[in-house]
Amino acid sequence: MKIVTIIGARPQIIKAAALSRAIKNSFSNQIEEVIVHTGQHYDQNMSQVFIEELGIPEPKYNLNIGSSSHGVQTARMMEGIEKILLDEKPDYLVLYGDTNSTLAGAIAAAKIHVPIAHIEAGLRSFNKSMPEEINRIMSDHASTLLFSPTPTGFNNLVKEGFSADNKNPFSADHPGIFHCGDVMYDNSLFFKTLALQQSKVLEKHDLKGKDFVLATIHRDSNTDVPERLTAIFEALLEITEMEKMEIVLPLHPRTAKLMQSNLTGEVYEKVKASGWLKLIPPVSFLDMIILESHCRLVMTDSGGVQKEAFFFKKPAIILRSETEWKEIVEVGCGLIANADKEKILTGWQHFKKTGDSLDYPDIFGDGKAAEFICQTMVQG
Ligand code: UD1
Ligand code: UDP
Repeated sequence: MKIVTIIGARPQIIKAAALSRAIKNSFSNQIEEVIVHTGQHYDQNMSQVFIEELGIPEPKYNLNIGSSSHGVQTARMMEGIEKILLDEKPDYLVLYGDTNSTLAGAIAAAKIHVPIAHIEAGLRSFNKSMPEEINRIMSDHASTLLFSPTPTGFNNLVKEGFSADNKNPFSADHPGIFHCGDVMYDNSLFFKTLALQQSKVLEKHDLKGKDFVLATIHRDSNTDVPERLTAIFEALLEITEMEKMEIVLPLHPRTAKLMQSNLTGEVYEKVKASGWLKLIPPVSFLDMIILESHCRLVMTDSGGVQKEAFFFKKPAIILRSETEWKEIVEVGCGLIANADKEKILTGWQHFKKTGDSLDYPDIFGDGKAAEFICQTMVQG
């Protein structure tokens, strides 16, 4: 069988590594994979670094769409993806997550009757002001095979009318839903050893043997709202100064571009002058694994980073008003602090006391989600 896989944004490139690896190791006689990069992310450290480092096959096509408004970006991607699907005639279009690249793939494929396999299906924030929430709902409802990483995601699909009893043969009108674990967990397990061998990120940033916090911020609801971005940075500054401890923040280009205009002048100057707040360029996945597994705590508005904090048994302060990864909060390893300075500081104090005694139960599968997905596609 032939599949076309759409990648575009950083986390999708990383997720694709798990499926490409499973195909190479166990399904090379049964599955031919053609990778299409939409070009949504294009900086070397947001895209090519992962393709090289994680052994992902070079994309056969790069649409080079780049940054734009939601409508323009999605429409241009749809045009390019439709042409490729008509040429390649795949058995499945594989989509990851909830970005504009995901949505473009879903609409393009559904209209020309290419079945869609959606990986990371069923996740919901129940907040439709998030562009990702729209992308997820629309992509799920156009899909034929829906692979959910968590029980919550699976149950969300059932609540939206998907039947857990549908049997093969599946179609867009008779979709199959599966709870199969998380391909990002597959990747974190697989790449941990390589990261320990290869990454020099702790030495490079003088963090070896030190206590530090890892932070990432990129959600539009934080970067684009001055009060929220300012409150988050005020909290980070206060924690570093109070604890005399570094916070390492690999800066997403969106955040880098908006900090000066959206922080108050005073906070921006403090951030620039702070010896404790380390703003660094985006790092590779192997470097990120090392930062996540060696830090004391994670503060993030990223979906992927809050999960990886959990994989590496670190508490996470979630800089959003809700999360799709409810299980992490329910077991007490994540705390929703939103962009609220006081809640972030309270969260810090809470995990300072409890952080070393948390339990991290197996929520995200057995590290073989990608194999399950390949097997299901081959059977379907
Ligand atoms: C996108 C996804 C988001 C995901 C995130 C992962 C959508 C709607 N959003 O958000 O779900 O969590 O990727 O990182 O699809 N930019 C660069 N260089 C790049 C890429 C982006 O400078 O290589 C800058 C541009 O100024 C661009 C901005 O970042 O306008 C935002 O990029 P975009 O892809 O539109 O959305 P993200 O915020 O990255
Ligand atoms: N990541 C990375 N380098 C960085 C920041 C993040 O490799 O500097 C990885 C991170 O480990 C995770 C993924 O990128 O696997 C998460 O992507 P992001 O936070 O951009 O998006 P989200 O998961 O919120 O959609």
